[in-house]
Amino acid sequence: MTTHAVVVGSGIAGLTVALHALDAGCRVTLVTKDVLEHANTRYAQGGIAGVMFADDRVEDHVRDTLTAGAGLSDPEAVRILVDEGPARIRELIDLGVAFDRAADGEFVKGLEAAHSYPRILHSGGDATGTAIEKALVARLRASDVRVLEHAFLVDLLVTDGRVTGVDLLVGDRPGSRASTAVSGVREQIVADAVVLATGGAGELYSHTTNPPVATGDGIAAALRAGAEVTDLEFFQFHPTVLDGMDGAEGAVGEAFLVSEAVRGEGATLIDEHGRRFVFDAHPDGELAPRDVVARAIARQMEAQHGRAVFLDATHLRPTPEETAAFLARRFPTIDRAVRDRGLDWSRVPIPVTPAAHYLMGGVVTDLDGRTSIPGLYAVGEVARTGVHGANRLASNSLLEGAVFGARAGDAIVADAASGAWPTIVAPVAERASDLEAASAPAPAQVPEPVERPPFSRHTLQALMWDDAGLVRDAAGLARAASILAAWRSARRTPRTEAEFEDENLLIVAEQLVLAALARRTSVGAHYRRDDERSRADAPEPAVLSGGAR
Ligand code: SIN
Repeated sequence: MTTHAVVVGSGIAGLTVALHALDAGCRVTLVTKDVLEHANTRYAQGGIAGVMFADDRVEDHVRDTLTAGAGLSDPEAVRILVDEGPARIRELIDLGVAFDRAADGEFVKGLEAAHSYPRILHSGGDATGTAIEKALVARLRASDVRVLEHAFLVDLLVTDGRVTGVDLLVGDRPGSRASTAVSGVREQIVADAVVLATGGAGELYSHTTNPPVATGDGIAAALRAGAEVTDLEFFQFHPTVLDGMDGAEGAVGEAFLVSEAVRGEGATLIDEHGRRFVFDAHPDGELAPRDVVARAIARQMEAQHGRAVFLDATHLRPTPEETAAFLARRFPTIDRAVRDRGLDWSRVPIPVTPAAHYLMGGVVTDLDGRTSIPGLYAVGEVARTGVHGANRLASNSLLEGAVFGARAGDAIVADAASGAWPTIVAPVAERASDLEAASAPAPAQVPEPVERPPFSRHTLQALMWDDAGLVRDAAGLARAASILAAWRSARRTPRTEAEFEDENLLIVAEQLVLAALARRTSVGAHYRRDDERSRADAPEPAVLSGGAR
């Protein structure tokens, strides 16, 4: 009998696992809640990191990744990521992804923060994710993979402790998502293996670089099924999105990413008086690790009473005309977005602010995507493979999706052939001094009485932004935990896709807050202002609130 795998999600990880499983002899169905093309991968600007140049070294990419991960990465996973990355990148090239090349035919080298070598390949200047998504979707559509679009994962089917399929809410009209009052049609698919490739959860926060589909659906489903999930306290905030996005236009989630590659090309961050301030926080200045730069911006904005800081690209070429031509050629997507907002960034610095970007934690997997439940696999941002530790190195996420997606595709077929459906053992608990019992915050930390706004996606996002964002402390986290627990205990019966998403966000938010409460010391992207050591390292940045202005 042929193995049947259902893959949920259509970013680089989901598409890769589907194609590899198919090639290995598996029958594959891929489901996605929107259309295939509408995944977070499409928004990746900077590029994909990999050791593709003769004078770069595997050891250096490994070291950069481990350093960014702040000591909490799994060295074996990182080694696999870096070792196998170039082969996966070459596969993308064979599929037709045209990474940018210089006149001599060599790939153009891109530099991003915390890389010791300019090893980032990009396509279309700043449209790398779009190029990769397009190539993989074209290959998938031409393959024997069965595709079900507008199909939302309501839950995993679990029988006798084993995942046996998926319960879906399928848009009841062709081309419709079941996101509104239209409740859609329930459909179950029975499978030998289910792969979560559902991406991240940027919708937890008021300001995010993620598209609205990033609602933590896979993590919530895994938690409900009893799978091991960890490291949710590590949420990366990108330092630079175009500021002013939540004004007249209003919509949450519309923040526009300004790639780190812009700083890699030499753009600087300046305060309202034109001073480069990031060197106050780190000797690498604008190319310091993301969390450091994001907090430096928060701190500077606080010192400026909430007024914006600026990204200055005006000096990248000798004249404004040459700079304008360079920016339009090197960053066409960003250039369009900036100019659409009436800004000429070849002549004036543009206002920027941090926003939620990438979840390092997720469903715990081994090196082949296996989770702690037989028959369940996870790949991409939804997974916690161990490569990112406490903070992801720029442009390692597309690479992770490609490398571990391929490995999981092969593992499913091997596991089915062996009939063993092996699972993993949960990761070893960390130092007890760093982690408290998550379910039992000290009573003194819980502010009384806690004012509780009525639940809505908007109030959830505001709560997370204020109390579990870039900077946290015990009091804010305890307040958030108490409000989230109360929201969770109110009985609701979701019927629409948006209501199911809200429940998923609530589940993930609660676990993230408990994890952040339990980890009392600052590490990587998790910054506790009430940790004495954080205060010793740097002055305390304030919480960004209400759009950081
Ligand atoms: C960026 O282009 O700055 C984002 C790239 C990434 O998150 O890896």
